Amino acid sequence: MHQKVIILDFGGQYAHLIASRIRREQVLAEIHQPDEVDLSFFQDEMIKGIILSGGPQSVYDEGSASCDTAIFELGIPVLGICYGHQFLNQALGGKVIPGKDSGKEFGRADLTHDGHCPLFKDIPKTSPFWMSHGDEVSELGKGFDGCASTDLCHNAAVWNETKKLFGIQFHPEVTHSQHGSQLLKNFLDICEVNRDWTIEKFYEEHQASLKKEIGDKHVVLFVSGGVDSTVAFALLSKILGADRVQGLFVDTGLLRQDERDYVEKAITDIGARLTVMDEADRFLGNLAGVYDPEKKREIIGNTFLEVQRAFFKTHQLDENTVLAQGTIYPDTIETGGTKNAATIKTHHNRVPEIQKMIDAGLVIEPLADLYKDEVRALGELMGLPHELVWRHPFPGPGLGVRILCSGELTEESTHRDEKSFSLQRNKKPFDVLPLKSVGVQGDFRTYKHPGMLTVAENDLAELESLSTKLINHYPDINRCVKALGHNYKGRIESTKVLKADINLERVARLQRADHIVTTTMHEMGVYNDVWQFPVVLAPLSFNNTGEESVILRPIDSIDAMSATVGKLPWEFFEKVTAEILKDDSISAVFLDVTSKPPGTIEWE
Ligand code: XMP
Repeated sequence: MHQKVIILDFGGQYAHLIASRIRREQVLAEIHQPDEVDLSFFQDEMIKGIILSGGPQSVYDEGSASCDTAIFELGIPVLGICYGHQFLNQALGGKVIPGKDSGKEFGRADLTHDGHCPLFKDIPKTSPFWMSHGDEVSELGKGFDGCASTDLCHNAAVWNETKKLFGIQFHPEVTHSQHGSQLLKNFLDICEVNRDWTIEKFYEEHQASLKKEIGDKHVVLFVSGGVDSTVAFALLSKILGADRVQGLFVDTGLLRQDERDYVEKAITDIGARLTVMDEADRFLGNLAGVYDPEKKREIIGNTFLEVQRAFFKTHQLDENTVLAQGTIYPDTIETGGTKNAATIKTHHNRVPEIQKMIDAGLVIEPLADLYKDEVRALGELMGLPHELVWRHPFPGPGLGVRILCSGELTEESTHRDEKSFSLQRNKKPFDVLPLKSVGVQGDFRTYKHPGMLTVAENDLAELESLSTKLINHYPDINRCVKALGHNYKGRIESTKVLKADINLERVARLQRADHIVTTTMHEMGVYNDVWQFPVVLAPLSFNNTGEESVILRPIDSIDAMSATVGKLPWEFFEKVTAEILKDDSISAVFLDVTSKPPGTIEWE
């Protein structure tokens, strides 16, 4: 039996991330729904600390998530994060109000603490932490003192020394909070909890529980060649033996250039069983004439199911076979996997039909509790080749989520409509592009326009920081891009969004641009300097040249929950842009300089 910390999940994207951070400190963390555990649950002497997670709701809304506030009187140290911080203060008599627009913060903020609170032990007086909130604590709960603030948030950290209650507005669990893990470590010290949990131990315990769960059934697993499904495949093949695990690789027609050959070879080299299915016509056929991002995801997910059914039909598999998926934790949480979470987007492993199978117990997801970095650690532990384990992650729906579509033709001359393009008229340092992409702010999905920066700046850190400021300030945009180069002449006179769905020609166009990016990263030896590098195609044309724009989205991250712009050398972008623009169907190339939040990593 391990001593542990309980995380009450108020429904943000962060409860499991907090758990993985705590596990990295070798402490067992358990996640529970706040209304499903009562006071008696907390009387377990193995519980040494309680963390209240962030969440998308406002504590003052009727019916918003809550827990039994008597747990604050048990003498167990409590750390409230974001929503948890607001809930804790409100529960003890404080007040929470909506932040004014200028008080809402998304992304990096510099936090200064007063040096008294043990939560900030060994943390510099001023350092960057990650913020994502619309509300703020305006009056502290009874017995609380403030101990840290940012420019826009006065009560960024508060504590009640006698009761060992702590509240923080920022997110220490995301990797971009530079001293976040130190803060969590400090909280664990305050809890005086044993540190005796490791990934090796998880692996051991997990093998036993998977064996029990699967019994003597056979497993079929769709492999994408990505880290997650490959590690899941290798894990199951190891536990059950290769003859009980059948891997299926679907060529969806939405793959990267040369991907099919790479995957076939890599999997065969592991000594596992793989069948390749050529289904490009079926996927592209089902996607023809579809423009809505969520609809596209759903179709791709359902087409995977169609393919699976067709396979089961011809291969006469019986009920002694379960389907396995390499789903990892963020895939489940962003679909609103827990009760209080808002849906940011539907993951292809979580479309309704698959969800039904999951509910019926027909799906095994051996990695569903892990984050990407933990999946990689597990892959290394199992002895998989380093190159395979450290491939950039690639989304299951493939290039399908990176080809933006539009159901109608819209044309804008520079004389723009006052309402939607008011920003430019106000002489702000950006213009608004007439298409939309998905983002995430304050745990909510957004679908807004990108701002196109008009500043001359080339320093990526400066551009990213400008982007954070602008997005915090202007609610119309959720990302900023900077033009890297174009095939049109002169200044922009007209901007067109063409009617476009997913088709062979567009896939080939994106494959080419994506291939240029990947090979140039390898040539310049910078592949491992970024965590992922989506290349996006948008039907955006300027001055009637070309049909599309390409957006480069280099990412620096550890777990995909938070991210900053991958800081590759400027020459890299110049080289890649020149090469991409040799295709005259490309009107312009942009660089996305937005962190996550407020932007997501993918564009939809
Ligand atoms: P976002 O766009 O949510 O992406 O910031 C986070 C990570 O998840 C990947 N991603 C997906 N992976 N199916 C997948 O298998 C999907 O539908 C999907 N959408 C996003 C994305 O590439 C990034 O690594």
